[in-house]
Order: sequence, then structure tokens, then C-alpha cells
Amino acid sequence: MTSEMTKTAGVMGWPLSHSLSPRLHGYWINRYGLNADYVDRPVKPEDLEGLLRRLPAECLQKGEVFRGTNLTIPLKETVMDFVDILDRSASRIGAVNTIVMGENGEMVGRNTDGIGFMDSMNEHPDVAALHGGTAVLIGAGGAARAVAVALVDMGFTKILMTNRTRERAEALATHIGETVDVINWQERSECLADADFVVNTTSLGMSGQPPLELPLDHLKAAAIVTDIIYAPQQTDLLKAATSRGNETVEGIGMLLHQAKAGFEAWFGTRPEVDAGLRSHVLEGLKSK
Ligand SMILES: NC(=O)c1ccc[n+]([C@@H]2O[C@H](COP(=O)([O-])OP(=O)(O)OC[C@H]3O[C@@H](n4cnc5c(N)ncnc54)[C@H](OP(=O)(O)O)[C@@H]3O)[C@@H](O)[C@H]2O)c1
Repeated sequence: MTSEMTKTAGVMGWPLSHSLSPRLHGYWINRYGLNADYVDRPVKPEDLEGLLRRLPAECLQKGEVFRGTNLTIPLKETVMDFVDILDRSASRIGAVNTIVMGENGEMVGRNTDGIGFMDSMNEHPDVAALHGGTAVLIGAGGAARAVAVALVDMGFTKILMTNRTRERAEALATHIGETVDVINWQERSECLADADFVVNTTSLGMSGQPPLELPLDHLKAAAIVTDIIYAPQQTDLLKAATSRGNETVEGIGMLLHQAKAGFEAWFGTRPEVDAGLRSHVLEGLKSK
């Protein structure tokens, strides 16, 4: 690799029209004046391995160095079968959202969603003060796996997990360990009485999806509520929590913070999440 070569990374998924990642990374590339490129590459699961194996040579022919990629739906699990190295974050979460090419051309699979969630919460000092408390985790899908690991790392000593499909919650609870109790989906509202922190990781409440039905009557006034959905920026859950005086945290922060580790590993610059980035990415949401 020579210093003049453009470093290239990007995002792969199927379909990809919803991704805000090119806008996000493009902002940082401009801001730091890097000789780098971040492109979206739509790819079906069955074509993923072939593309990843071809890209380093194809990029070199164009005078570029392929540094790795982000992965989004539905590729985060597919790729686990053939990356050369799975780091601890990916094996704990059970999915890969970032590939970084190693010095000898090996593909290293990482997962930055958990740390992204944690870094976003750490912007709020009141959340850090909940160490030792109880969290209610709504959902048990792909994103919930990363959030559950983050909740353990944030020091919650009890996690009450509730999901429409109970078996999925039980499987995740077994993976995470004794900290997690599974609560029936029908009892999701009642269990809020024990919560210091509530996080929605289902797709309910996202633009175009059904609403999340979650009366907040039992919620303590001091409990903090977050939603990892960022479209809309203020979900009905966050609006309902705010209107009864609970502190809330928006989902966009997780998206911004999860991107930092990949950017640094590919391009060698540790980027910052600031107000300019936040408004640039939120502006992009309007056209989605
Ligand atoms: N802020 C961020 O950076 C970030 C990162 C990742 C994801 N997200 C957002 O998180 C959300 C979930 O993503 P994901 O990848 O985890 O999706 P996923 O793996 O498909 O999981 C979807 C979850 O929603 C539940 N669900 C879906 N429809 C439901 C319904 N009608 N009634 C009850 N529960 C329902 C599922 O329950 P079942 O198990 O019963 O199907 C499951 O718990 C999406 O809105 C995504 O945009 C945000």
C-alpha cells in the first residue's frame, strides 16, 4: 500500500436504499480531509462471500485499498460463517456489523452496535448513575442482542426482557446469562414498575411499522426511556415518556457512535460525534 492510494470502505446489505451510513462517513471524510471513500454496495446474502473475496484485488486495480465494510440487514449473521477472525464483540453479540481487513488480507469481524449504544448513553450522565439498577429490554431481535450485552457492560444487575416471541427472548436470555429474566409480552406494561431504564429495540414505532403499545402508567418518575429507532427521531414512546416527565434519549446517537470504531480502523483517524454530524445525518433522514 502506498500513501497516495485511496482507502475505501462502505456498507453492504440488501436492500440498501435506507442506509444513512454513506452520509455519516462521508461527513467525516470531508471534515478530516482524508483520501478515503465510503460507498454503498447492495449485495444479496448468497453473493456476499464472493464479493468480499474479490474486492481487495478489484480495488487495487483501481488504485484503491479495500479496508473493510459495514454490514446491515440481512448480512450481519451470514458473514459469521466465513470471516477469518471473529473478535470478542462479535462473538459475544453473535453478529458482525463491521469487517476490518487485517495486514495479511484476513477479514476480521467486529460488532460495534453494543459500544455504540453504550457511548450514546454515556452522553447522558443520569444514565451512568443507574449502575446497579434494573433495565427493561423490549425486543429480542438482532439489535437487542447488542443492546443486552451493552446493558450488562453498563452495570445493570437485572434485565427484564420481553418479546412477542417468547422463545427468542429465552434463547437470548440463555446466551446473556443469569442477569436476564424473561417477562411475558402481555405483562410488558406491568413490569415497568421495576424499571430504572427502559429500551425499545423492536421495530414497533418505526416509520411504516405498527405502533408500540406500551402504557407507561406503572413507570417510576425517575426512570429513563430510550428507543433505538431513529426514524422518526422522536418516537411515540419517547413523546409519551417526555409528556409524563421522564428523561429520554433518542436512537440516533447509537447510529452515530457505532460508526466511530470502523472509521478509525479503516482510515486511521478517530472521528468525533458532534452537533454538526447529528444535524447532517438527521437532514438525510428527511429524504428517506
Ligand atoms: N439506532 C441504531 O443504531 C439502530 C441499530 C440497529 C437497529 N436499529 C433499529 O432497531 C429496530 C430493530 O432492528 P433489528 O435489526 O433488531 O430487527 P429484527 O432482528 O427483525 O427484530 C425485530 C424485533 O421487533 C419485534 N417485532 C417486530 N414486529 C412486531 C410486532 N408486530 N409485534 C411485536 N413485536 C414485533 C420482533 O419480535 P419477534 O421476535 O416476536 O418477531 C423483534 O423483537 C429497527 O427499527 C432498526 O431500525 C437501530
